[in-house]
Formats: sequence, structure tokens, C-alpha cells
Amino acid sequence: MQSVTEPSISDELRQRYLSASRVLVLTGAGVSAESGVPTFRGGGNSSVWKGMPFDVISSARMVERNLPAVWEWFDYRRDLLQGLSPNRAHHEIAKWQDHFSEFTLVTQNVDGLHQRAGSRDVIELHGSIWRVRCTVCHARFEIHPAQPRVEACPDCSEPVRPDVVLFGEILPAGAFERAAAAAAECELCFVIGTSALVYPAAGLPEIAHAAGAFVCEVNPERTPLSDLCDVSLMGKAGEVLTLFSRLRSETV
Ligand code: OAD
Repeated sequence: MQSVTEPSISDELRQRYLSASRVLVLTGAGVSAESGVPTFRGGGNSSVWKGMPFDVISSARMVERNLPAVWEWFDYRRDLLQGLSPNRAHHEIAKWQDHFSEFTLVTQNVDGLHQRAGSRDVIELHGSIWRVRCTVCHARFEIHPAQPRVEACPDCSEPVRPDVVLFGEILPAGAFERAAAAAAECELCFVIGTSALVYPAAGLPEIAHAAGAFVCEVNPERTPLSDLCDVSLMGKAGEVLTLFSRLRSETV
């Protein structure tokens, strides 16, 4: 039975957090909101870009029809990230990897902020804004914030595109399978800062729940997954996750 609580940790969640060995965390755009990264469905330019909803400009069809427009949108989003830093939520999640014996972080975010906070081996379901790939030979290349955008593939000179999963495209090979295997094995699953509208990512907490895991959502708003979750901590990720930091220090 689900309980919607103020952002405070119940005894049951406390006990589960402190005793769990296998933990899975799924994050979405909300985890980066306190860094200043706009969410997709929160309005503004990240929801509608030059009159185009984000799922139109961020689509496989748009890559075929107007690759320069897709680049313009991703350049805008990369520019937004310049000067932004990981927030308390990213840092707290990074600490969890050393707290649990088996820890899997799965993100839908492409901003790289989890890695900048120190998270290792992050499963990036939707790719990375800091990588490009060739539209012809599919070679992948890292791009750095200070570097001008790479226009053509260094290997074959064909146009490159962001190495991000767009609407109408499949996820990177193996990424979802790894995440789904960890979801099926975990005891505790956190769903943090996602509207849970985009599948297959939103299916991971469902897999965890079906396999018997305790599922905890962290989000200031309800989502379609809220009813499935055992606990909904309704608040901002940075504020809510800080409670876990205190919990660990109290019990050391
Ligand atoms: P959305 O923009 O759909 O949802 C962001 C969620 O974060 C909402 O549920 C907000 O309530 C919540 N939120 C806002 N501020 C928060 C905060 N400070 N702390 C915690 N939660 C907060 O973003 P995603 O769910 O990530 O895919 O969207 C999923 C996918 O849709 C994205 O990865 C992207 C997009 O299309 C692709 O680009 C393929």
C-alpha cells in the first residue's frame, strides 16, 4: 500500500536503505533541475524550441529532414550546460555507489552531470550530449565543452549528429538489457526526477516492483508511477536526498 509522505524518511524506508545490498536508481531531468537545467515537460525553450515541441525537434525524422536544426537545438542545450555544476542530488547519488555492495545508476539524462559528480559506470539510456556519432560509419567521438562543434566525421568526413537517442530511435545496444537485469535483481529502487512517461525507461521501476523490490519515488509532483511506488517522497531531489546523507552519518 502506497503512502505519500512529506519528504521525511519513514522507519521502513530507513531500515530498507540501511540494510539493502542491491540498489537501482533511475533518474530523469528533475535530478538536474536544481543545477539550472530545464526539464523537458516544465515549459520554456526546452519544451518548445522555435515553435517545435521537443519531441519534434528531438526526433529521428528531424535528423533526416533538417540536421542543422537538430544541431542548433543541441548547441542550445550544450550552451545551457556551460557553467552549470552537479547539485546536491548528483553528489549524494555518487556517494551511494560506495555504500551499497551492488549499485546501478541508470539515467535518462544526457548532460553528464552524474559523471561530473563522481558516479562511475552510469547507464546512459538516452546517450550523451557530449558525444557525436557519424551518420554514415557510426564512429563515435567525445566533444568537450570548450571545443567548437565537430561538423564532419574525422574518419570518413560524412556529417555527424549528436549521440543521443531521439524520438523514433532505439536505445543503445545492451543499455536497457543491463538496466533491466539490475532492476529485476534489486531490493530497493529509487525513481528520481522523472515524469515516467517515456518507455522503456519508465518500465524499469515496474520490473523492480514486479520482482519484489521496494520502490521509492522522489519528485515534487505525482507521476504515473506514483501508485506503484511503496513511498513517494514529494520534494526536490537535492533536498530529499540530503536526508539520506544525514541518515548515514547518524548511523555510523
Ligand atoms: P521530464 O521533463 O518529462 O520530467 C521531469 C520530472 O522532474 C517531472 O516529473 C518533474 O516533476 C520532476 N522535477 C522537477 N524538478 C525536480 C526536482 N528539483 N527534483 C526532483 N524532481 C523534479 O523529464 P524526464 O522524465 O527525464 O528523452 O523525460 C524523459 C525523457 O523524455 C528524456 O530523457 C528525454 C525526453 O524526451 C529523450 O530525449 C529521448
